[in-house]
Amino acid sequence: MIDVLLGLQWGDEGKGKIVDYLAAKYDIIARFQGGPNAGHTLYVDGQKVVLRTIPSGVFQSHCLNLIGNGVVIDPVSLQAELTQLVSIRPDVLERLFVSQKAHLILPTHRALDAASEAAKGVDKIGSTLKGIGPAYMDKTGRNGLRVGDVLNKDFDKKYEQLKQKHVQMLRQYNYEVNWQEWEAEFFESIKYLRSLQIVNAEYWLDAHIKNGKKILAEGAQGSMLDIDYGTYPFVTSSNTIASGVCNGLGVAPSRIGEVYGISKAYCTRVGSGPFPTELDNEVGEALRKAGNEFGAVTGRSRRCGWIDLVALRYTVMLSGVTQIILTKADVLDGFKELYAGVAYTIEGQETNEFPFDICGTDLSPVYKQFDGWEQPISECNSYETLPESFKKYCNFVENYLGTRIAYISNGTGRDQLLITPQ
Ligand code: GDP
Ligand code: IMO
Ligand code: MG
Repeated sequence: MIDVLLGLQWGDEGKGKIVDYLAAKYDIIARFQGGPNAGHTLYVDGQKVVLRTIPSGVFQSHCLNLIGNGVVIDPVSLQAELTQLVSIRPDVLERLFVSQKAHLILPTHRALDAASEAAKGVDKIGSTLKGIGPAYMDKTGRNGLRVGDVLNKDFDKKYEQLKQKHVQMLRQYNYEVNWQEWEAEFFESIKYLRSLQIVNAEYWLDAHIKNGKKILAEGAQGSMLDIDYGTYPFVTSSNTIASGVCNGLGVAPSRIGEVYGISKAYCTRVGSGPFPTELDNEVGEALRKAGNEFGAVTGRSRRCGWIDLVALRYTVMLSGVTQIILTKADVLDGFKELYAGVAYTIEGQETNEFPFDICGTDLSPVYKQFDGWEQPISECNSYETLPESFKKYCNFVENYLGTRIAYISNGTGRDQLLITPQ
């Protein structure tokens, strides 16, 4: 069986920290979508590490790590990430496997991302500019280059053909990007990529499943950024929900077991697009400060707001989440009162369904108020010692979602995680 862990909001829910903790119980951690747009923060022996393309199981020395076919790989970024990791854990390369079917991000994909965003002006997506959208476009357009291609003699020719196509496209934009300067490092990194363990990942995984190995699929981004079900067009270009695991790793739906859904105890979003419970005021600012809400990849400040249970129930439904992990509970310490969005009012009508045209709809959230607490959650070391008003908040969230909160995270450290009673 293969368990899944994914974000239920707009990303940055704390997936890296939780995977690093849960990896102790798994043999293999596998990324199934996204690419270097992800930034998963872990603290290893007190040192902060941000993972982009590498699965967050690398710091558990027994864990194998797989970059699945659903991931888009920038070899330059991958090499930089691995070089840093090898200096911390020299055995990383022995435990890393890469699917031959994962698609490559080319320098011109990054250029196209920048040009496309610039052309959108005020309507820009707020992309991380890592070339994610253009690389997935080439995948579905049947033009992409894959990891397995780097082992073939005609790789340079194929690269050149695709590059020329991109050069034509770039001419249509009135925007200069000096991508030519990125080509030398790209080819250097292709050599490095060839030295990694490139595998036929769906067979590799199948063999491990048959041998009884425990596998955890690690999501990137969040469910509200899903290409099909997120706040389109302000989304990423992959399926971030549980169904993405089947496509992104080549495993059958019947093999999926637990689905861990991660949500912050409040909500954030980085980049443009709708965010119904956003607090564009001093309360939002206080959340940003308390939660240190600045992007792990781009450093951009994250927009903050109260938890949105309408959106959360939607994403729990989409992935068939079996257990919730509530992170950053400690960030709510110090708020005299807090709120949860429980419905939306659209044209005078109350609804608790997530609307189709979220971008064009004028909606206002309906909130339920909760009392704050005095005793700091960050200092609690068991579920029992948590403040009663926070437990009430959790009970309400569980009942609203119809899904159990299995863990509560109360700090950045691997072990700052409280297990709730069954
Ligand atoms: P990811 O992309 O989902 O892995 O999340 P990020 O790493 O981008 O952002 C989450 C941030 O919150 C990181 O800086 C984590 O160190 C931090 N974090 C995770 N869990 C907790 C928690 O329970 N409390 C606090 N205060 N910070 C946390
Ligand atoms: P992790 O895995 C938060 C957002 C970007 C932008 C939109 C599209 O760390 O949770 P893209 O670069 O994919 O074209 O950007 O998606 N975005 C993320 N936001 N966390 C992420 O990853 C994100 N990856 C992409 O800010 O709004
Ligand atoms: Mg992140």
